[in-house]
Amino acid sequence: RSVRVSGWGSYVPERVLSNADLERLVDTSDEWIRTRTGIRERRVAAPHETTATLAAIAAKRALAVAGLAPDDIDVIIVATLTPDYPMPSTAALVKEAVGNTTAAAFDIAAACSGFVFAYATADSYVRSGLARNVLVVGAELLTRFLDFDDRGTCILFGDGAGAVVLSASPEEGGGMAGLEMATDPDGAYMIWMPSGGSKSPPSSETSKRGEHFIRMEGRETYRYATRTLAASALAAIERAGWTPEEVDLFIPHQANARIIEAVAKGLKLPMDKMFVNIHKYGNTSAASVGIALDEAVREGRVKAGDKLVFVAFGAGFTS
Ligand code: COA
Repeated sequence: RSVRVSGWGSYVPERVLSNADLERLVDTSDEWIRTRTGIRERRVAAPHETTATLAAIAAKRALAVAGLAPDDIDVIIVATLTPDYPMPSTAALVKEAVGNTTAAAFDIAAACSGFVFAYATADSYVRSGLARNVLVVGAELLTRFLDFDDRGTCILFGDGAGAVVLSASPEEGGGMAGLEMATDPDGAYMIWMPSGGSKSPPSSETSKRGEHFIRMEGRETYRYATRTLAASALAAIERAGWTPEEVDLFIPHQANARIIEAVAKGLKLPMDKMFVNIHKYGNTSAASVGIALDEAVREGRVKAGDKLVFVAFGAGFTS
């Protein structure tokens, strides 16, 4: 079956945390953050919000654009590294929140590549005929897992959610044209949360040591991203039988503006082919490509029939 994106939507919490606000929390400066990352501000969820509530708002917006009723959705996939609970899945909570009674719902864990991995999974369900409409949501509440004493990580991340609905299409040739997915476990401990899982269950000791916070080797991660992203995008583009020049817009994971510039340089393309909104939201991990896609459509940067490339990398390392 041919596949189309029938709906899109996003949600970011109201509260803005600016670089100036961070200057009051850690030894950093607006200038350092802007020049090293491109980030000016990020959003922080309110106390009553959770990853599932952020996801549900983005999902309802995507369903409204698609013109679908909740029970038209056959499968719900949520990509997140900050689920409400280890179990049940956040997707199960989103299913209830959007009022769906029929879909299978599950989470995908691929860190910042989560939205792209979930999108590829959803496309495969529709293409194979296993589902007619699949809801994909990338959602994160990262600010609750940041060590605000660690200036190397707390300046980077923010909260938000992005969603799409993929549907069976009556028109020929729609959907994913080429795919390159990779996981490189050499990078397994470059970005991680040391405790909270079976290897190091949460305890007062792990909590005192702050092991439930995100830890990151920034330089190694940066090196991996700049080495991998352009090659990964190019592999997918070649599988599609396209050239980089004929791609209308790249929607890259928003981790660092310098990393996005490296992708453009690696593909010998101008920066106006890259959608960038990191200055407003920072790195929202699995939510970032979904939020960026929604904004790109609403800003008129994407129209029906365009050739798009989604490219991401994250803990694992995944790409
Ligand atoms: N404010 C001010 N100074 C800071 C700082 C901050 N927030 N964070 C680090 N520094 C300091 C360091 O302590 C270091 O000081 P030193 O030279 O005196 O030791 C100096 O700045 C350079 O640190 P370094 O880590 O080499 O900086 P960098 O240029 O690599 O930039 C990142 C740091 C985190 C912005 C960059 O490595 C990065 O973007 N990595 C990828 C992160 C990422 O994308 N993660 C998510 C993956 S999905």
